[in-house]
Amino acid sequence: MTVDFDRDSLIGWLEEKDPERLQALYSEAYRTKVASVGDRVYLRGLVEISNICRKNCLYCGIRRDNGAVGRYEISSGDVLAAAGFAYGAGYGSMVIQGGERADRAFTDRITSLLREIKKRYPLGITLSLGEQPLDVYREWFEAGAHRYLLRIESSTEELYGKIHPSDRLHAFERRIQALRDLRTAGYQVGTGVMIGLPYQTAAHLADDLLFFKSFDIDMCGMGPYIEHSMTPLYAVRHLIPDKMERLELSIKMVALLRLMMPDINIAATTAMQAIDPYGRERAIMAGANVLMPNLTLQEVREEYQIYQNKPGAGEDAAISSSRTEKRLEEMKIPIGYGQWGDSPHFSRTKSSKG
Ligand code: 5AD
Ligand code: SF4
Repeated sequence: MTVDFDRDSLIGWLEEKDPERLQALYSEAYRTKVASVGDRVYLRGLVEISNICRKNCLYCGIRRDNGAVGRYEISSGDVLAAAGFAYGAGYGSMVIQGGERADRAFTDRITSLLREIKKRYPLGITLSLGEQPLDVYREWFEAGAHRYLLRIESSTEELYGKIHPSDRLHAFERRIQALRDLRTAGYQVGTGVMIGLPYQTAAHLADDLLFFKSFDIDMCGMGPYIEHSMTPLYAVRHLIPDKMERLELSIKMVALLRLMMPDINIAATTAMQAIDPYGRERAIMAGANVLMPNLTLQEVREEYQIYQNKPGAGEDAAISSSRTEKRLEEMKIPIGYGQWGDSPHFSRTKSSKG
């Protein structure tokens, strides 16, 4: 059932324009998803714990040098309340995401938060807190996190270099090592890329898909790049495809990856929704099976604008999540309530190895 595309055929699909052929690709990816991971979509309540970040990625609205952003940190009580909300709403899991920080106070705080959440609720916990040393990854794993998202952003070192400052903090090799360390620490490992970046070609995206396959990832989250006026990459916005093209490319990437790796978890991401209100649902119909409703408190949401016009900026958790669920119901997409929704790929291929 797995399709072994070669690089040229991936490029061919990424450049495909014929709507009928594309619809056939999406339907095939959907069928593959249903046959291998089922028809349910798993919800993960997303908490954006802090927008303080030591990095300066050239595309990101909360990069260190953007002085226009009010920096915040959510209190542990509020994170626990969000965990309670996620549990009460029947989501099996939550995601704790935030800017990258290296201070011990932060690391310790995450460790005790994880312990506290696990003590109160049987939730699966995914972390997305950037590059950390192996012993920090281990500490958080032991405290109860079991999945980690760290996007490679681009698997081509040259393109990675064009969208990041060229210093040690942003080194490509360091990021690859962090992905290996996550595997060593025992996590289900998720990665992903931005789609429609300046300088990015169909060949780069084909290589990204082949990278996911060869790295044998368990989860993937990828979505369209969306320009932000307070970032350096905004200066080359004339180089990027138009928004609808970036969204279509993202849906193609989801469908191709589902066919290449039938039993991994693939997220329908918020950036897709930023371009089209039904963008995430389209990704689900093309093979995605995970969705992350935002549970971040309304007061700070506006400050977590990694790109501009991020959906749901003025909403609170209850509104965002009930709207998400209503939309899935309308589209007759079943939800996997009360389940962790782990990647079957991980349990088949790695859990026995420890
Ligand atoms: N557009 C789309 N995605 C972005 N990210 C950061 N900035 C942007 C942007 N301008 C993504 C990166 C990062 C994730 C948390 O958000 O891929 O890994
Ligand atoms: Fe920080 Fe992540 Fe934004 Fe880079 S993409 S500046 S690491 S929050």
